[in-house]
Amino acid sequence: MTFPSAALAAFAQEILERSGVPSGKANLVAVSLTASNLRGVDSHGLQLLPYYLDQIRAGNIRVDSNGRVLSESGACLLFDGERAFGQHVAATCSDHAVRLCREHGLGMAVARESNHYGAAAYWTQRIADAGCIGITACNASSLVAPWQGKDRRLGTNPISVALPGPRRWLLDMATTTVAMNKIVNASLSGRETIPAGWAMDAEGDPTTSTAVAMKGLLMPLGGYKGSGLAMMVEILCAVLSGGAMSTEVGGVYNRSQPMRTSQMFLAIDPTRFLPMEDLGARMTRLVEMIKSSAPAQGYDEVLVAGDPEWRIEEQRRRGGIPLSDGAWKALREAAEALNVPLPAQAG
Ligand SMILES: NC(=O)c1ccc[n+]([C@@H]2O[C@H](COP(=O)([O-])OP(=O)(O)OC[C@H]3O[C@@H](n4cnc5c(N)ncnc54)[C@H](O)[C@@H]3O)[C@@H](O)[C@H]2O)c1
Repeated sequence: MTFPSAALAAFAQEILERSGVPSGKANLVAVSLTASNLRGVDSHGLQLLPYYLDQIRAGNIRVDSNGRVLSESGACLLFDGERAFGQHVAATCSDHAVRLCREHGLGMAVARESNHYGAAAYWTQRIADAGCIGITACNASSLVAPWQGKDRRLGTNPISVALPGPRRWLLDMATTTVAMNKIVNASLSGRETIPAGWAMDAEGDPTTSTAVAMKGLLMPLGGYKGSGLAMMVEILCAVLSGGAMSTEVGGVYNRSQPMRTSQMFLAIDPTRFLPMEDLGARMTRLVEMIKSSAPAQGYDEVLVAGDPEWRIEEQRRRGGIPLSDGAWKALREAAEALNVPLPAQAG
């Protein structure tokens, strides 16, 4: 099933509004999830919506909560999300980071007691759209064993960095080989196997079985270095904010406890270092230098972060967003339960 992005966003917004979400927040959640599908990151797109509805029903997402600033000191701001929608906390804290950055050259907001905020890149792009370099990270439910361990202690703790100006480079990555939702996506799409290196079984042995991976462990990115990066994210987000750490964090698929995720948003004003035109020219040159490498055997070209998603976005803006059978079934059932009309498919 393939749908135009605007129709899908409106459909998701209607589902959220009929679930009691105020319209501004419903719009933010619907548009940001759809933006992830548009970029081809389906794992963090509308397939999450039915789980968010479960979290609302369980009281883990408080639809009327806005969170509040706990303290502000110079360029640094501490925020209590008070279990508001993660997307609402992310938008609020990104905007605070930009405000502080305009004044100080850097601005950093750290939030505790938040909820899942979807794809990290949506928030760094929001900061970049305001003319700053945007950096975000968050902790997530512990699905990953620390290197040399077999018990879940770390999250997939993503990191994203975006730059202002035309599309040149945009990094958005879990600190595991892939995000958990990619395995959920494989399962929803009925794919029995996943690529080697994505996951381990519950004993810490590598697996390519989707079903085994669903009950197993995610592979830290690059072994102990991935564990180190995930710890860095825990420190910048949860240790600094006084929020939940490691196994104290709930999860978007776990209704029995609040998610309590912590998130960090950093804005940097590049013009405190060099003129904006020079940033653009130097970035263009850097990307050209990287891409001037001859492709390795089996590849036609060298890409940089952001390229794969921008290419998919171009196609999907024209042809619409395809949803897997599993993702569409869950969305259709949610819509039918709330009497929300189904969107028209892409022509
Ligand atoms: N909210 C949460 O709790 C949470 C947790 C984990 C992950 N996530 C999200 O999951 C999404 C997927 O993460 P992922 O790590 O699976 O992404 P990924 O592995 O698909 O991509 C990671 C990065 O690598 C780049 N890339 C991909 N192919 C490339 C190539 N051939 N050459 C150069 N660069 C290339 C991409 O542009 C991207 O910036 C992200 O949006 C992330 O924010 C969210």
